[in-house]
Formats: sequence, structure tokens, C-alpha cells
Amino acid sequence: MVELGHNSTSHLTLVNEGIDRINWVDRYSPVLNGLVRKSVNDGTLKGVRIAVVVHLEAKTAFLASILADAGAEVIVAGSNPLTTNGSVVEALRNRGMTVVAEPDGNMQSWEQELLAAADLQPEYVIDDGAELTMRIGMYRPELFKKLKGVSEETTTGTARLYAMKDAGLLPFPALTANDARCKHLFDNRYGTGQTTLQAVLRLTNKRVAGIQLAVIGYGYVGRGIAEYAKKMGAQVHIVETDPVRALEAHFDGMIVGKSIDAVHDASIVVTATGGMRAIGKPEFDVLPHDVVLANAGHHDLEVDVATLAEMADSISEKRSQITTYHLGDRDINVLSGGALVNIAGGSGHPIEIMDLTFAVQGLGAHHLVNTPMEPGVHILPKHIDDSIAEAKLHSLGIFPDNPRPEQEDDFREWLKGMA
Ligand SMILES: NC(=O)c1ccc[n+]([C@@H]2O[C@H](COP(=O)([O-])OP(=O)(O)OC[C@H]3O[C@@H](n4cnc5c(N)ncnc54)[C@H](O)[C@@H]3O)[C@@H](O)[C@H]2O)c1
Repeated sequence: MVELGHNSTSHLTLVNEGIDRINWVDRYSPVLNGLVRKSVNDGTLKGVRIAVVVHLEAKTAFLASILADAGAEVIVAGSNPLTTNGSVVEALRNRGMTVVAEPDGNMQSWEQELLAAADLQPEYVIDDGAELTMRIGMYRPELFKKLKGVSEETTTGTARLYAMKDAGLLPFPALTANDARCKHLFDNRYGTGQTTLQAVLRLTNKRVAGIQLAVIGYGYVGRGIAEYAKKMGAQVHIVETDPVRALEAHFDGMIVGKSIDAVHDASIVVTATGGMRAIGKPEFDVLPHDVVLANAGHHDLEVDVATLAEMADSISEKRSQITTYHLGDRDINVLSGGALVNIAGGSGHPIEIMDLTFAVQGLGAHHLVNTPMEPGVHILPKHIDDSIAEAKLHSLGIFPDNPRPEQEDDFREWLKGMA
């Protein structure tokens, strides 16, 4: 564990708060501090320009610090204008890192920050939602051609990378960190499940037991939220357009149906689709008085806040991060402006979960730097994914079994017989 030093002057309170936040992450990150540090400190990242564009809070700052400690020239920016933490920004600047992000929550200045990050000409990008990658492609085509690799964090960003590849517009290798099992099985499901409910409850101070709670989208994220809500006593309604996942939700004991019916009597509605306008005018027309809407998916547009604003007679802020839209005799409450509620309105994923996700990202970036790869979308090699899980298990004092020779499958013998 490497503790960052404190500044003594009082005007650096913000810096010190950021340092404390990052040091707290350091305490609970055994995989990053062990396996990842050991791998990336082999000298191959020295002088390599890597942009880290993930929600800019303490866990992201810790990943950026590990890459900087390994000799990389790290450029840090935020992946969403509403999730940048000011104290963390100042702590990183204090240690001499290049940070192009301000915690002003402003969409236009955020776009400018991403372009400024692009102009610093990163060779590699650790991205979230492909936010920087897309913008380099759209606004800096010459730099796009020079990019050597991208490691992408999210489901939404992965879909964007595949769309670029399918359009013949991906001239570099991209790793889908999200497809690593050590990412989506834990981050999307348990991380988002726990922290979305945590954030909704902290912001609203409302109860879960006995309420009707609707989740839109039953992917890894939606399933995590639904499972936690069900365990807390909610009657959970699921809206899912993929019939297999809808069936899975039914088998999991959820109430599956159409969105209009699911939200009709809901006290809380959470979106987790990765798409846009999952909750829009048809749902706004039937939502009950005092419902709470929150988003856990990547887009701030999953709840169609713009249309809700057009429909509203008036809008007010009832409490921090709760915007209330008054529609006739109904109030509709939107949390955190429709941004990812667990990050904009909470502390983001648990540190122990981001220890896995950022191990995938850190080792993914190291793999991209060290391994010649064809342009296109790639999955993190299984042995790297496995090594992360093993490191985590060992940090927990768990040493699982290996298969004994007599347990090996006779599949290969059978193939020989067919030859
Ligand atoms: N908040 C966080 O911290 C966090 C963490 C991880 C992922 N994410 C984001 O959450 C979103 C979901 O991730 P995932 O891994 O669950 O993705 P996923 O693709 O596994 O699941 C999304 C599900 O939503 C369904 N869907 C899409 N549009 C729908 C609609 N209009 N109505 C009903 N169902 C719809 C799809 O069929 C799919 O089953 C993504 O945007 C991802 O980037 C957020």
C-alpha cells in the first residue's frame, strides 16, 4: 500500500479530502495493489500516453495513479459531466497528473474537456461508454487513425465499438473490458445492484419493503437491482424486450409485463437498458403521484427528462438531487437529473468490486501495449480474466480446487476414435 502524502496548508483542504478518498480506495484494492502493480511495473508502460476516461472519482483516480506509477503519461478526464469529484481532481493535479475535467456538471464544458483530452494525443484510451473514442472519431479523424488501442468499460460503449467495427470504421484493436467475466458478473450485477438502491434510498430516505418497484431492462445491471430489491421485500416488476431474458426474469420470481402496467402503481422505477427513452411519454401519462424515477444505465437519456419537462406545469427542486415535475395533480420525482444514480447520487461501486473492474482495465491496457493485435473488437484473454479472479480469491483467503487428472473429460479420446 502506498499512501499519498498530505498537504499541510489549510487552503488545500480539497486536495487533502481527495487524497484521503484515494488512500481509502488503496486500502481495499488487493488485486490492483498486487497482481496489477506487478504486471504493469515491468517497464513497458514507461512514456506511453494513456487517457483514462471513466467516472472521475477516487477509484478511477487510483487506477490512474497506478498507471502513472508504472511510468505511463496519464491524461485523466471524466466520462459524465455529473460524476466528476472536485476533491479527487485536485488531488490528482497535486501529484502532477494531467486532468482535463471540472466538477461543474456542465455538458458543454465536458464536451470541450474531452476534446482537450483528445488533443493531448493519447496512444491508448481506457474508456467508459466509448465517450472519448467516439469523439476522437467524430472530431479528430487524424488522431483517430493514430490511436493504438482502446479498453472499454461498459455495455453501451462495447455496443458502440461493435457498431464502428461493423461500419468498417475501427482502425485499431479495442478490448471489451465489459465482456471479461471479472467485470460484468460482479460490477454490473452486484456493484450496480447494491449501489443503485443505496443511492435511491439515501437521496429519498424512503422504504423498499412492501413497495412496488419496477426495473426496466433485465440484463446484468437490471438483474442485480431486481435481486437486491426483492431481497429487501419489494414486489419487483420487470420490463424486458428480449423474450429469453423476460422468461429468465419470470423464472427468477419477478413480475414480468409491459411498461405501462409495470410502472402504473410503482413507487420507484429504475432504468437499466443501456438505450434511450426507456421511460418516456407513454409511461409519464400513467405514472402514479410521487413516483421516484432513477437511472442506472449509461445514458442520461434513459428517462426522457426533456419530454417530461415539456409535459410539466412546473418544476421544482424538493431536496438535493431530486427534481419534481408537477403534472396536474401528480408529482414525478427524477433523481440526479437522470444521470447514473449510483455514481451521480452515490459513491459509485464498492471499492472491492472496482478492484476487479479496474484490474481488467489495467491489465487490458497493458495487454494492448504489449500484444500485437488486429484492428477490431477483442475480448480479454481468458488466462488474464482467470488470474484476476485467482488474485481476488487468494486475497480473501480462498484457495479453490484444481481438477485432478482422473477428472479430465474424455472428450479428446472420443474425437480420436472418430478420426
Ligand atoms: N450504473 C452503473 O454503475 C453501471 C454499471 C455497469 C453497467 N452500466 C450500464 O447499464 C446499462 C445496462 O447494462 P447491462 O450490462 O445490464 O446490459 P445488457 O445489455 O446485459 O442488458 C440490457 C437489457 O435491457 C433490455 N432493453 C433494452 N431496451 C429496453 C427497453 N426499452 N425496455 C425494456 N428492456 C430493454 C435489453 O434487452 C437487455 O436485456 C448499460 O448502459 C451499461 O453501460 C451501468
